[in-house]
Amino acid sequence: MHPGMERVLLSKDEIEDRVKELARAISEDYQGKELLLVGILKGAAVFLADLMRHMSIDVRIDFMAVSSYGASSKSTGVVRILKDLEQSIEGRHVLVVEDIVDTGLTLNYLLEILRARDPASVRICALLDKPSRREIEVPVDYKGFAIPDEFVVGYGLDFNEKYRHLPDIYVLKKEVYQG
Ligand code: IMP
Repeated sequence: MHPGMERVLLSKDEIEDRVKELARAISEDYQGKELLLVGILKGAAVFLADLMRHMSIDVRIDFMAVSSYGASSKSTGVVRILKDLEQSIEGRHVLVVEDIVDTGLTLNYLLEILRARDPASVRICALLDKPSRREIEVPVDYKGFAIPDEFVVGYGLDFNEKYRHLPDIYVLKKEVYQG
């Protein structure tokens, strides 16, 4: 195991099984509809790439990149769009694909932005959920795993842009992120 890691939280096999289940549920729910998957960069890139390959309906993909305003690591709930969608979502079915919902502030703000563009529907699919950290209620329609309040990396998730490439999801050692 990588020296910075406390333990494996979710193995790549567990993740794969759950991603297949999510893809199956989403495919059933959107049968006969055109679906646009909106991945939130960069954390959701690995999840979205796996999710779409297990889907049995036609999907299109697009990406957004957002960042919290301010230098503080604490989420403020106001997000700045660093990269916007390349297409209009008016009248389209949109599924936002996110790596992890923590306080919920980022997704809450993003939902407001997307809903203002008059899509046919907007739903959320998040691989991980830290429910104990929630500050604002957001409807997570498709959820991979509820996890405890620990800092996790791997499978797209980073700490200071590191560890995104790891195939499993790990709990990062506290001394790594608390300095
Ligand atoms: P929220 O606005 O607090 O819900 O922020 C969610 C974002 O914070 C996620 O998209 C991640 O980028 C980041 N984040 C929250 N918890 C973790 C974690 O445990 N590991 C890595 N990134 C995290």
